[in-house]
Amino acid sequence: MPSQLESLRRHSLVVSDTGDIDAVARWKPQDATTNPSLLLASAADPRFRHLIDRDVDRVFVNFGCEILRHIPGRVSTEVDARLSFDTARSIDKARRFISLYEKAGVKRGRILVKLAATWEGIRAARELEREGIHCNMTLLFSFAQAVACADAGVTLISPFVGRIYDWHRQQRKVEDIEISEDPGVASVARIYGYYKKHGYQTRVMGASFRKTGQILALAGCDLLTIAPDLLEKLSKTEGDVPRKLSPEKAQAAEKVSLNEAAFRWMHNEDAMATDKLAEGIRRFDADARKLEKLLISLAAASAATAK
Ligand code: E4P
Repeated sequence: MPSQLESLRRHSLVVSDTGDIDAVARWKPQDATTNPSLLLASAADPRFRHLIDRDVDRVFVNFGCEILRHIPGRVSTEVDARLSFDTARSIDKARRFISLYEKAGVKRGRILVKLAATWEGIRAARELEREGIHCNMTLLFSFAQAVACADAGVTLISPFVGRIYDWHRQQRKVEDIEISEDPGVASVARIYGYYKKHGYQTRVMGASFRKTGQILALAGCDLLTIAPDLLEKLSKTEGDVPRKLSPEKAQAAEKVSLNEAAFRWMHNEDAMATDKLAEGIRRFDADARKLEKLLISLAAASAATAK
């Protein structure tokens, strides 16, 4: 009997969601994703001291290059959350990442630049895609965000399951929500169905999982990015995983078209998505600032030992 992980790989492309290079080497995913919080944790780890630099962008790219040594596919590197409402500076930052990667000998086709799925982030992605810089739209909680990303022609979106589940659990004051009623799972299934029904090329990568049941309920999603602890659980559990999402099963859904005002209105109507997008930007920003402080103190410590 195959493990759930092996079975899942028959339906979806499995991606690792970690800054831990050893975990990437162990799980050998096709692609890998990182974010500022994951890279803060790894930057503090002495195993990865050789990847540290004074410049945060270089640290992100150093981790990305190291991860790429262990995978055949693409790595996602995230743009500073402070630029979430600034299209021009998001574009500049993405170009800088690509230039740093290219100087390190990595072609742009192996990079996905991650941007928050704000209106400004989505405009930046539309421009970047035209330059052949592929984008992964993150902090995606609402249907409005998904519609705007597909219309902008982005390569990939990362709708978050776990953070939607967290919000509803907190609102309802319950310990758990069953998979069949999980609003995070339902959100990804709806977006996947909408994209397939209308023939969008933008790929859907379910992200932010709290339990293996959420992952298995989305078997068939184009990609699934999974943290090492959940990869471990899936690999240790035997079982055949049936396909849950497929283009054939996509439900009829009316095509939506959103200009800026309609996007902002529709997203704002979703209280969960409004809260979680704002909180997500604050959290990634807070961790990026912690990382900057850490880099300064590590540089000071190494200058002191060099004396
Ligand atoms: C994906 O793009 C994110 O890095 C990640 O899945 C977020 O997960 P979390 O909600 O567990 O932080």
